[in-house]
Amino acid sequence: MSTHQTIQRPHRAINFAEKLQLINDQWQPRVVAEMNDYQFKLVRIEGDFVWHEHADTDETFIVLDGQLRIDMRDGSVLLSAGEMFVVPKGTEHKPYAEREVKLLLIEPRGVKNTGEENNERTAANDVWI
Ligand code: NI
Repeated sequence: MSTHQTIQRPHRAINFAEKLQLINDQWQPRVVAEMNDYQFKLVRIEGDFVWHEHADTDETFIVLDGQLRIDMRDGSVLLSAGEMFVVPKGTEHKPYAEREVKLLLIEPRGVKNTGEENNERTAANDVWI
């Protein structure tokens, strides 16, 4: 076997569009990378999420495609593709998308998507694509 055939490719770009095509279901965050104890998750959502809060951590939303509204008790923020928002720790919030939106979420490993609540929107953690 010649040398060039044995060269490994340990360094691969993570392509959001390619990864998003692997996600069949809405509301199911998929991990694409970790940085220390933080995870980068892609998710497709449409419609209303549930009110919840994360007592121990902030939560970052980066919109890749579509438009996302994040309702909070004292107002809401509207995010378009290329925009981001950090929901502060302990702040009740409810994401909403009139049409499907594709997001990158950044939060510590092990954070439940519905906060302290368990309900029909609660998704499994640590599912990689
Ligand atoms: Ni949240």
